Amino acid sequence: MQKTEELINIREASNWASDFLKREISESNISYLVQYGKVKKYNGDVGTLINLNDLKSYYLSYEGKREINWKKKCGDDLNWALSFSHLREKDTTKHVHRLHPYKGKFIPQLVEYFIDEHVDDFKKEAFFKEGDIVLDPFSGSGTTLVQAKEMGIHAIGVDVSRFNCMISDVKLFEYDLDALKEEVRKIQHAISSKLVDNKINLFEEELLGLLSKFNNKYFPSPKFKYSLQKGRINEYKYAREKEKDFLKVYDALVECFGVDIRQKKKGTFLDKWYIPNIRKEIDFVFNLVKEIKEIRNKELLAVILSRTIRSCRATTHSDLATLKEPQISTYYCHKHKKICKPLFSIQSWFNRYAIDTLERIGTFSKVRTDARYAIVTKDSRSVNLSEEIKNKDKELFEIFKKNKIKGIFTSPPYVGQIDYHEQHAYAYDLFGFDRKDDLEIGPLYKGQGLEARRSYVQGIADVLNNCKKFLHDDYDVFLVANDKYNLYPEIAEKAGMKIFNQFKRPVLNRTERDRNPYSEIIFHFKSL
Ligand SMILES: C[S@@+](CC[C@H](N)C(=O)[O-])C[C@H]1O[C@@H](n2cnc3c(N)ncnc32)[C@H](O)[C@@H]1O
Repeated sequence: MQKTEELINIREASNWASDFLKREISESNISYLVQYGKVKKYNGDVGTLINLNDLKSYYLSYEGKREINWKKKCGDDLNWALSFSHLREKDTTKHVHRLHPYKGKFIPQLVEYFIDEHVDDFKKEAFFKEGDIVLDPFSGSGTTLVQAKEMGIHAIGVDVSRFNCMISDVKLFEYDLDALKEEVRKIQHAISSKLVDNKINLFEEELLGLLSKFNNKYFPSPKFKYSLQKGRINEYKYAREKEKDFLKVYDALVECFGVDIRQKKKGTFLDKWYIPNIRKEIDFVFNLVKEIKEIRNKELLAVILSRTIRSCRATTHSDLATLKEPQISTYYCHKHKKICKPLFSIQSWFNRYAIDTLERIGTFSKVRTDARYAIVTKDSRSVNLSEEIKNKDKELFEIFKKNKIKGIFTSPPYVGQIDYHEQHAYAYDLFGFDRKDDLEIGPLYKGQGLEARRSYVQGIADVLNNCKKFLHDDYDVFLVANDKYNLYPEIAEKAGMKIFNQFKRPVLNRTERDRNPYSEIIFHFKSL
């Protein structure tokens, strides 16, 4: 029997843990541990209670030992100050940084750390100041550019992927917020008044009711997760059994409502990954977006739609990042530890993302400065930056002519890790953008073999050699890289640069599934 004096409420747990770990542990951190079955939940008269000993042993087994453990695996030269472990998810995804998912993004605080004017024990001088120009030749979703804009530093971003540049563009555009809100409202209204299919709605309502009863009975939360954590249930066997049981209910319901869930053809990405009703809704909203006259609003709405359709692909919750096979029936979800269902309509996601996007744009509008920027969709090995800046922004071109570019802050693709076009295949398919997969440096599809590494080294060196022409004589180049093959010394040599310094940082903010100690290096290159 549990002694009551060992039970504490969420607030007491948060205070105790903050003291114990000497860093802020919020009440929502504690609730997260309860919700995910890491510590057991007790129901008290005044809400949730947890056992202090349970909490203590959780922290002793993980958090408290993390730094020592990481240093053992990654080496003692790991710079823990660059872990940014004090940051909450809310900080690392602040304002427009979470406008659209993008695999391979770095956190804005890392950019800030290197391009702001502070100095500390590790960064002994400031490399950029307000009014300088920073270049990111692999600008991806635009993290460097957004941070520079917040800090009064002019920025130029180049990326070979058209859709990545579009994500960056919409983050940086300055909008007329009222006109934008009106445009969003019009589309939301059209969806709810003209689009919604009553048959699908009734089917989904009925399904949700049955699903909720089934999950409460067989996967009660958080009790089920706690039992899994303690190894009291064979998850695989139990889940398969229950998944099969519910599938019978699901099939009967589909039949009874006459709902069409099978794709008719599988030719394009959209054909394969969306059930017919969602496909119809996507086309409907996209046609409305195409009619928007103001180009910035149009692009932003297109990005909201793209974010929506990414979430509405017919896949399981745990396969969202790496698609396997289309999932058009209910299934046991390894992420949520219960039976989940595919989506049948985009409406709720579109609304959620529309509201979220407007809020983020609004927040960014309060912190953005007048710094200039240019985003260029080109191959960084051959782009003529001078020409591009001249065409895009006369004011920036004048600053560039006078001062040149002060330096680079970038994270190049890592050899054989990500296909940057393919990760947004749904958007390329919907918008009909040209894909330049063959110009990507070090894509996943080329692997990590000898030839892939050789061409990667040449590719990154070619980018640096090309960009060098536009840099100030006393330039600073920062490259965030996971250099497990030790390729960067050769890259520096081929680029006619020297490795001036290296900062090795732990990468903590990774997904639940992928918690192995992992570090990356920020290389600081200078001219020879
Ligand atoms: C690691 S990501 C950069 C992510 C970025 N730091 C962010 O926070 O969003 C690397 C980027 O390099 C781009 N890339 C690959 N080859 C390129 C090339 N030849 N020229 C320009 N960009 C290229 C990819 O499209 C990808 O967006």
